[in-house]
Amino acid sequence: MDLLSTLRHKLEGVDFAQALQRTVSFLRQNVPHYTWVGVYLLEGTELVLAAWDGPEATQHVRIPIGKGICGLAAREQRTVIVGDVTSDPRYLACFPYTKSEIVVPIWKDSQVIGEIDIDSDRPQAFTERDREFLEQVAALLGERYG
Ligand code: SME
Repeated sequence: MDLLSTLRHKLEGVDFAQALQRTVSFLRQNVPHYTWVGVYLLEGTELVLAAWDGPEATQHVRIPIGKGICGLAAREQRTVIVGDVTSDPRYLACFPYTKSEIVVPIWKDSQVIGEIDIDSDRPQAFTERDREFLEQVAALLGERYG
């Protein structure tokens, strides 16, 4: 079974909060270049950390729209890939090991309701394959929201 089908199976019959936690843990455990995986949900003008899995907690548990790569993806409502975080002034530093990052919006009924944020300890870790895969994961979560 491919990763997306396995994840879909794991989310059957669980509530939204559990679905978020299972998703971040599943992604981190199954994709070696996903070092830290989180989901932020939009609350008013802020992104609030709802679930995460990784070596350590982030201090960025609330991020205003427009701040950081997370805030950029929310404001522009699109997936953002940063291949080298050290050369991107918009990046909000969380972990010393992070080299690259991807942020993928989660949609529900044509509205962005949150996003998947993944840090990698490898530079240029994220490709179009990651984007396609994670946009499908985001769609699974969007279906379960609300
Ligand atoms: N680096 C993110 C902040 C969140 S941490 O990666 C968990 C950003 O630039 O928005």
